[in-house]
Amino acid sequence: MKKLTTLLLISLTVLVSACSNNMSSDSVAKKSMMAMPFGTSMDTDYAQQLWQALNNAKLAGNGAIETVPYKGQPPHGAVLETFSSKLSVAGHSGVVYVKRNYRGKDITRSRVANNRGKYLKAVTVMFKREKGYDPENKDWFWAKYKPDGSLHSNPKGMLLAGRVAKGMNMGCISCHRAAPGGDYLFNNTAAQLDH
Ligand code: HEC
Repeated sequence: MKKLTTLLLISLTVLVSACSNNMSSDSVAKKSMMAMPFGTSMDTDYAQQLWQALNNAKLAGNGAIETVPYKGQPPHGAVLETFSSKLSVAGHSGVVYVKRNYRGKDITRSRVANNRGKYLKAVTVMFKREKGYDPENKDWFWAKYKPDGSLHSNPKGMLLAGRVAKGMNMGCISCHRAAPGGDYLFNNTAAQLDH
């Protein structure tokens, strides 16, 4: 009987310590999520406000303004449209770049022009946020939307909004960092809007 009680006690201790171990690894996971530079609820909330502002400005969504689609390059679509403007989001006004990414079988520029909805796969956006948002990367907010305004995610399931892939060697920031002019912009013609 005594032996049994001791055994029980031991297994209980093991159980309790296993649980507390679990709890501490949980809180570590939470902490590292909080430190994540993108895909947090703060980022996705902001991305929603940005999407709404883009819709109001007719830069995205139904009835959005159109340009002549041009031939694109990877990783953006085979055919692209790019816009830049000033935009106000949550009381902050900044320059915004919007790229519509078109892809699909037998895609041509004219087919896109005649049926944008069929080929639109993503709307990628760079919005210049308030000073200090991400000083190492020119304070850009990055987002990759689906045509309905929800967000694309990376292979790990992280939603693509915020300081996307900051510190990683692939993704929005690391690739755009290499753009000429030091402003992370490949289409430099309209960059004056910001200066
Ligand atoms: C491997 C490199 C690469 C990656 C990764 C990349 N881009 Fe780009 N991006 C480009 C290139 C090149 C252009 C210019 C394309 C063109 O217009 O022909 C561009 C253009 C843009 C533009 C228009 C403004 C500009 O710089 O000319 C936006 C907005 C944009 N990208 C957003 C994003 C977002 C958001 C992500 C991440 C989800 C992303 N990009 C990932 C290479 C990249």
